[in-house]
Amino acid sequence: MKPLLITIDGPAGAGKTTVSRALADRLGYTYVDTGALYRGVAREMRVRQVDPEDEKGLARVLADLDLRFVRRDRVLRLLSAGVDITGEIRNPEITMLASVASARPEVRRALLALQRRLGAEKSAVFEGRDMGTVVFPDADVKFFLIADLHVRARRRYLELAGDPGLSLEQVEKDMQKRDANDAGRSIAPLKAADDAVYIDSTSRGATAVVDEMMAVIRDTG
Ligand code: C5P
Repeated sequence: MKPLLITIDGPAGAGKTTVSRALADRLGYTYVDTGALYRGVAREMRVRQVDPEDEKGLARVLADLDLRFVRRDRVLRLLSAGVDITGEIRNPEITMLASVASARPEVRRALLALQRRLGAEKSAVFEGRDMGTVVFPDADVKFFLIADLHVRARRRYLELAGDPGLSLEQVEKDMQKRDANDAGRSIAPLKAADDAVYIDSTSRGATAVVDEMMAVIRDTG
């Protein structure tokens, strides 16, 4: 099979990360979590106490941005200026700040170039919100992964179970807010590309979803 560029978009908690990683493993491809890049920008904003309305502060954060993925023990880690920030970018505060910052055009512009560089070699699975629509409109195979809101919130809650301050209701509310931010922004909103294949993971595990994706990919190749 020729090297393919595969995109997986969809709302928070639909299972994109688990499925993208498993699909990339099966194909022997690289996996790129583009949400981590937006979270990385949000982390730098928080470290420098720059809020999303502060244009000059944001410009400085973006000019100094030094985000890089490395693979350690088969796990993708994100480094910012050499510091491993993989764990800290998952906290709820950074999560919400990433959602707000991602609506800023200058943030999207800065990350667009970086993502395209990462995708230059194909043989990759890119996960995000606008992979199939904006970043890689010519991708070989595009998926749009969806699931019922309650199921998505429950999955995320179980993932974050180590955090004692969180309730399932709060996780669901935050998720709904992020979905609304992502789908409602004017630049690169969360939406399926016209040529994307919809997959619903509400009542199916990751293996079944990946099996279905593999069947689509085989048909394409
Ligand atoms: O995928 P994840 O939940 O880690 O993404 C964090 C945030 O980054 C999302 O809520 C969304 O606002 C933003 N994002 C985006 N475009 C992408 C990936 C993520 O706007 N391609």
